This record gives sequence, structure tokens and C-alpha cells, in this order.
Amino acid sequence: MGIRDVLQFPDPRLRRRSEPIEKITDELRQLAADMLETMYDEPGIGLAAPQVGASVRLVVLDTQWTADDADRKPCVFVNPELTERSGELIWNEGCLSVPDFSADVKRAERVVLRALDLEGREVIETASGLRAVCFQHEVDHLDGVLFIDRISRLKRNLYVGKRKKLLEEGGERWTSSGERPPVPIGTRRGTTGIKL
Ligand code: NI
Repeated sequence: MGIRDVLQFPDPRLRRRSEPIEKITDELRQLAADMLETMYDEPGIGLAAPQVGASVRLVVLDTQWTADDADRKPCVFVNPELTERSGELIWNEGCLSVPDFSADVKRAERVVLRALDLEGREVIETASGLRAVCFQHEVDHLDGVLFIDRISRLKRNLYVGKRKKLLEEGGERWTSSGERPPVPIGTRRGTTGIKL
């Protein structure tokens, strides 16, 4: 299939709780491959299956990649769960499904993620900083949670109002301007605007 359309807020499919994956099939492997292609194309550093309309617990990410294409390290996580969270940090998050917006979000500084890979092997990974933020953001997607649910009501309402207005004005295509900014990896905390 290749590159898939990324659903945009307020699409109700982004709000569903995704189903656990019972069996790793060729269809699932294809979905993961398409999600990676879509993520690199956008560009973003993480993508969860519900963002492409598949209500299953599958996440892809690559937190080391930059828009220069060098050193891709694609990761695929089946049924990811966070088994430990500690510390606290503030990260400026964006999301491929939440167009034209980023905001500071409070997250755990360090997390432990447990998942399966596409061969069905268990993966346990401890992450901190951006990678920990990405894990939390993507697992949230599987539960129908968006980063705008984790900011102040005031900021959220401002964004939702702006988005509603644009959609009502018939500006459904307003996000795809063709020219896409590079992903700013490794920039200072609070100024990144990375799409997760
Ligand atoms: Ni996202």
C-alpha cells in the first residue's frame, strides 16, 4: 500500500481505544512497513496505528533519525506497554494528527517499555528524554489520548476553537502546503515542535 493518510484531529477514530494484537500476520507487517514509510515521509519521529485508521496496538518510531535521511533506526512495537515511569520533564510536543500546533507537555523523564517485535519476541527498553516522551505519546494514541488532552484547558480550547473555525471555513486541506519543515532533532527542550 505504501504511504497512508494520517487522520487529523478531530477525527473520532483518533479517540478509540485500540485492540491488542493477537497474532502477527503479513497484513500487520505490511501495516508496520506502511506506517514507517508514512512517518518518514511526513516527516515525524513516531506514528501509532490509529493515526492511519487501524485500531490496533501497533507503534512505529525512530527518535534518532533526522530529515537528512542518515542512519535510520526504525523501531516497531506490537502491544507496547509502559511498565515503569519516573521523574518528570516538560517537552514541547507536536503530533502528525494535530496540525499546526505544539505545546509543552509534562511527562515522565524515564520510562520502561515492554512490547513485542514483529517476530513476536519480547522487547524491553528503558528510555529517557525525547525517546521516553515519544514512547508515552505513542502509547497514549493507542488509548485514544492526544497530547492536547495533557495541556491546560485554556490552551486546548484556544487550539480547538482555531481548528474548528478553519474547518468550518472549508479549509480542510490547509495543512498540506507541500513544503514540509525538516524534523529538528536534538534542539533545545521546549523549542522542538517535533511531530510524534
Ligand atoms: Ni502523535
